Amino acid sequence: MANQLKYRFGIDFGTTNSATVGYAFMGNSFEKILYGDDEQRPVPSVVAINKETGEVYTGRTAWERRQELSQECEFITSVKSLLDQEWSKIIAGKKWTAVEVAAEVFKGLQQNVYDRTGIVMDEAVVAIPVGLKAPKRRLVRKAAALAGLKISSFVSEPTAAFFANYRDIRNDNTVAVFDWGGGTLDVSVLQHYEGKILELATGGQPEAGDVIDLKLAEKIHAKIARKKKLNISFEDMSPINRDMMLVRAERAKRAMYDDDTATISINNYGEFGAVRETLDYDWFSEIIDSNVNKAIECFDKVVAESNVGIKNIDRIIMVGGSSNLRPLIEKLYARYGEKLYFPEETMWNVGLGAAMLATTPGAYYSNQKIGVRLSDNTLFPLLRENEEITKWSVKHHFGIVDTSKEARFVFGGSADLDDDDSKYVTLPVPAYVFLQEQIILEANVDEDLVFNVIASSSMRTSEYNRIWKYERLKCYYQLPKEGGVFD
Ligand SMILES: Nc1ncnc2c1ncn2[C@@H]1O[C@H](COP(=O)(O)OP(=O)(O)OP(=O)(O)O)[C@@H](O)[C@H]1O
Ligand SMILES: [Mg+2]
Repeated sequence: MANQLKYRFGIDFGTTNSATVGYAFMGNSFEKILYGDDEQRPVPSVVAINKETGEVYTGRTAWERRQELSQECEFITSVKSLLDQEWSKIIAGKKWTAVEVAAEVFKGLQQNVYDRTGIVMDEAVVAIPVGLKAPKRRLVRKAAALAGLKISSFVSEPTAAFFANYRDIRNDNTVAVFDWGGGTLDVSVLQHYEGKILELATGGQPEAGDVIDLKLAEKIHAKIARKKKLNISFEDMSPINRDMMLVRAERAKRAMYDDDTATISINNYGEFGAVRETLDYDWFSEIIDSNVNKAIECFDKVVAESNVGIKNIDRIIMVGGSSNLRPLIEKLYARYGEKLYFPEETMWNVGLGAAMLATTPGAYYSNQKIGVRLSDNTLFPLLRENEEITKWSVKHHFGIVDTSKEARFVFGGSADLDDDDSKYVTLPVPAYVFLQEQIILEANVDEDLVFNVIASSSMRTSEYNRIWKYERLKCYYQLPKEGGVFD
């Protein structure tokens, strides 16, 4: 059996583009597979649904036939950003939720894997933005499950990018990752020592490429409107015209990476007719200046929170499409010079890191303790520091020692917990049987690294159970000693 070919997959489920990376294994040898389109690029996270028939198109096909399909299809872009909103739309008589649309993105990725290697991708490690809240993580899981894809674990996008570059940066102890994509900026400061990888600080903002495209489209529109002396705002243009402008604004933005001008032309821009506008780099740079500054501020804030100080950061790994904005690169170079590191194949980095994790399941360990504060303020430990938390759980029984009608648990053990009011869990107790009664406290860490506590009474039905969830559990990842794909 050892010589059977096995596959492991990692997915970067991006706002704009999604990347699937696989590893094919045979014994100790392995091969990396990038599941891109014909030009070896990740697949656009776009879904088109026919308004009459309900037929679904995804990925590059949908993107490239965008013009042609625009009349007959409903286009849904950036579905990742819609996931936690109450988004839904009736198309061809069926109500589509964001989760269902996201499932189509996953199905498209699976189809791509099947077409290339004849394998059904039914399990993968999926990268998600830092600090993605548990409810949204559940929605991502749900979308994947609808496509028949089990998410074996999540990894944060910057950490995945770190893994992808592990070979080159293994001797750097402190690394910052700047991942600016279409939907979010994700920043992370990681400490790394002998395979132990710790997120010192993470942060981000939901302002990225999509926001810049919209701003540019509006400004270009305003330029045209001024010239043509037509007082119609961008919002008042038809969705198709707005979309045409957005596509061109995005293209011009990318061109500015190495060109000093970019020309936009649209043959039939609604009431404006044929339009043509040349943009120059200085104009562009000024328009996006505030976005660039905001991103740098966000980065600085995360670095400050990490308490290591910028001088002690050995490298800044720049990933994500928006990290190619020339005004950003110029500013960052002026500040951080040689610390900046631009990996090759940056668009595959996050997916690759996720796939590496899928092949080499190391383990997560707690980097903090959690316990119950007793009446004398000592801490009764539940989870200790450096404990392995993969499938971790404990169960404790507490007696009731007074006649109070409530059992009250106060959790503590780390600074953020001790300051937080939500750490109280109270359980109503039937007082007349207090001597026999036991309060049972069960704690576990689930697959999303959420610390859960269930408090129950031995004398009460489960409807009296109380639950406490702690979503900010600090943990670190330990790479296995045998490096495999990491070596
Ligand atoms: N050369 C470039 N200059 C500026 N922006 C670029 C360039 N190339 C790509 N982009 C922008 O990068 C964004 C896509 O980046 P990426 O593929 O990293 O995002 P994503 O992973 O889909 O999004 P997220 O990580 O936010 O979910 C788009 O907004 C795109 O316009
Ligand atoms: Mg991304």
